[in-house]
Amino acid sequence: MSDKELIQAIREMAKQKDAVIMAHYYQRPEIQEAADFIGDSLALAQQARKTDAKIIVMCGVHFMAETAAILCPDKKVLIPDPTAGCSLADSCKAEDLRLWKEQHPGYKVVSYVNTTAAVKALTDVVVTSSNALRIVNQFPKDTKILFGPDRNLGAYINAQTGRDMELWNGGCHVHSRFSVEALIALKKEYPGVPVLAHPECKQMVLQLSDVIGSTQALLNYVKAHTDTQKFIIATEPGVIHEMQKACPKAAFIPVPPEVTEGVGCSCNECEYMRQNTLQKLYNCLLNETDVVTVAPEVAEKALIPIERMLEMSK
Ligand code: 13P
Ligand code: SF4
Repeated sequence: MSDKELIQAIREMAKQKDAVIMAHYYQRPEIQEAADFIGDSLALAQQARKTDAKIIVMCGVHFMAETAAILCPDKKVLIPDPTAGCSLADSCKAEDLRLWKEQHPGYKVVSYVNTTAAVKALTDVVVTSSNALRIVNQFPKDTKILFGPDRNLGAYINAQTGRDMELWNGGCHVHSRFSVEALIALKKEYPGVPVLAHPECKQMVLQLSDVIGSTQALLNYVKAHTDTQKFIIATEPGVIHEMQKACPKAAFIPVPPEVTEGVGCSCNECEYMRQNTLQKLYNCLLNETDVVTVAPEVAEKALIPIERMLEMSK
């Protein structure tokens, strides 16, 4: 089947089975085209909470499907490729976080949504890149906070809020590898062109950027600047699909990654996000596999900081 035929078959099957297809902005463009709803991680969690559908198909990485499963225990949550992980979530194991907490009595734990359910179960409040600043600011100034796992986002929040949160030394391999040298060269080549960066990027990249925000915030910026002809993009380029729809005539210039002698990837795509394909989405809906579940004792504990996040980001 062609992509067009597959998308049509997926849409029909979703209707028949009362399934809602959700996709993160970093998914392959054809998956975004097949989805009912496209969003960043906060919007996907909010949408999962709201939906009446019997089945949620989460086209994203595993922690996103887990979050939906925790929020919707009565629904069947499917993922096209259950092995789609996340280097950032992998950088923080629950047993290590438990030790870190023990070494820091009296601290609140603020965890990024890019974590496993077991890590969320040890957390006081979950945040995403969309609401992290807002939520951290709601703690009294003298609250002692452990923030993890993304050190770049944590450092950015510390700088913005004047806080001194303790930071977990984790990171996203995609956002950490944008080349500072290449960005400097692009800025010289395209003077005045705004640089849009995700806060998971390293500090040097953020310092060279004009707009720092979550996937949704960067997209909103593009939507609000439809007269701008060019944008330099320092985040996963999957989001350019939606940006291009908002600004069909604009050029989006992705910042390339660092390449160290023979090592390194020639693109900035998140290979985990790209593990989901249209064919896998079709099979997933047809066979109703793979179902993502979270052990009830973990889900019960993980739900508390996720609900706190939804409440605090209103
Ligand atoms: P958002 O919260 O901006 O969707 O980011 C999720 C993510 O995985 C970034 O790498
Ligand atoms: Fe995880 Fe980075 Fe991929 Fe986002 S882009 S899913 S943080 S590995």
